[in-house]
Amino acid sequence: MLRQSSLVVVANRLPLDDNVAPDGACEWRRSPGGLAGALHAILEQTPATWVGWAGGTGQARDLPDIGTLRLRPVPLSEEELRGYYEGFANSTLWPLYHDAVEQPVFDREWWLAYRAVNRRFAEAAAEVAEPGATVWVQDYHLQLVPQLLRELRPDVRIGFFLHVPFPPPELFMQLPRRVELLRGMLGADLVGFQRPQAAHNVAQLAAKLLGAHGADDAIILDDRVVRTGAFPVSIDVAEMRTLNARPYVVNQAHQLRHDLGAHKRVLLSVDRLDYTKGIEHRLTAYSELLRDGRIKVRDTVMVQVAVPSREQVESYRGLRDRIEREVGRINGEYGRVGEPAIHYLNQPFDRADLAALYQTADVMVVTPLRDGMNLVAKEFVAARRDDSGALVLSEFAGAAAELSDAFLVNPHDVDGLKETLLQALAAAPEDLATRMKAMRDHITSHDIHAWARAYLTALEQSQALVP
Ligand code: ADP
Ligand code: G6P
Repeated sequence: MLRQSSLVVVANRLPLDDNVAPDGACEWRRSPGGLAGALHAILEQTPATWVGWAGGTGQARDLPDIGTLRLRPVPLSEEELRGYYEGFANSTLWPLYHDAVEQPVFDREWWLAYRAVNRRFAEAAAEVAEPGATVWVQDYHLQLVPQLLRELRPDVRIGFFLHVPFPPPELFMQLPRRVELLRGMLGADLVGFQRPQAAHNVAQLAAKLLGAHGADDAIILDDRVVRTGAFPVSIDVAEMRTLNARPYVVNQAHQLRHDLGAHKRVLLSVDRLDYTKGIEHRLTAYSELLRDGRIKVRDTVMVQVAVPSREQVESYRGLRDRIEREVGRINGEYGRVGEPAIHYLNQPFDRADLAALYQTADVMVVTPLRDGMNLVAKEFVAARRDDSGALVLSEFAGAAAELSDAFLVNPHDVDGLKETLLQALAAAPEDLATRMKAMRDHITSHDIHAWARAYLTALEQSQALVP
């Protein structure tokens, strides 16, 4: 029997990996990454269907429901995985949308796979959406889905949210398939971004490439109005507070502190191992501070968590090799017996262990070269049990617009980064407390539930405005 939902989320990845237990049971196994974390929080208790890829290749298995959430897997062949996911999504769009900090690759075969897979996702969404449903499409993997779905199901309300930055027009214009990609996304009733600048970029491009008119928040294209706007994504603050209070987390934080050296200042970074995260720039800054004798391993230690990501993609493999070489060099040069300069952890952690790590840090160092939002920065603030701790945050993370009380820094400027790290390490407790309170107040009132409410309300209103 076909089961349909009034709310359908369409995202590349289902919120679980492909290790369903032998008895067929399956539970939320949150994959690292901002999107899964954000949606997990709001869908846990909402009747909905999530259309997505369950990992792996070949035929999709039926997956059991997770509470009130149904899972509708979309299969990918090996060739599609390479062309659509590793290729067009993660070697063309991802680098291009992140300021081309790594050279985007344009391959015509990848485009064919991307289009075919987007069609498959649109068809799956069309199948599970009940009449008049709301379908919420997520991220750069599925930019053609809104228009394809509109053709299949003109009765549904379609939202699209881009979790990553939308690039400036001069970069977007490099894309050989720019017209299709723009038109695809504008098939939605409401297109949401992390930052207002993205909506401005899209309005400009729509006028130039598609002959649209209107304003930054309402693009008139053909006979339709497409609303656009900024909806900065956030975290589940309540979940983090519950974790904070768990005895395991408190004990684990004490243990970590003891293991790292009770008297030491701890610098912490937590990233997917991705070239957008600025890990190499950060290691350079830290290593130069050690070289110049401005910090010493006897009183300072760095913890770099870098969870493996997109490991089949060439640029990610190269990055991992370079980082591991550099960590080895720094430890070899500056570490002492039993006292490494850097603890490097290339592994996933569960939420409780991440919370304990956040509680252990004196300085949280979040320095991406470009990032749509960066939820790690927000998680750090929510994880603190008191007003101590400093956040060093890149100006190029979406989060910087909201967390302006962090120590903001340009990560490309290694000297500036070094000075900012020292400033954060030396900050007076009263200064840190003022900053932390302001940041905590902000995320408390702008949590993930507020984000979903704001977006879905705007989506509901957007369709009412179509002439
Ligand atoms: P991105 O979406 O680019 O990965 P974000 O900072 O927005 O960046 O989100 C990263 C998410 O992944 C956060 O929710 C963070 O807690 C999670 N995460 C990061 N490192 C790990 C890890 N080692 N194990 C598990 N989850 C992780
Ligand atoms: C970012 C993207 C998400 C993606 C996540 C993890 O957060 O915006 O769409 O799911 O990274 O990347 P992965 O390639 O493992 O899904």
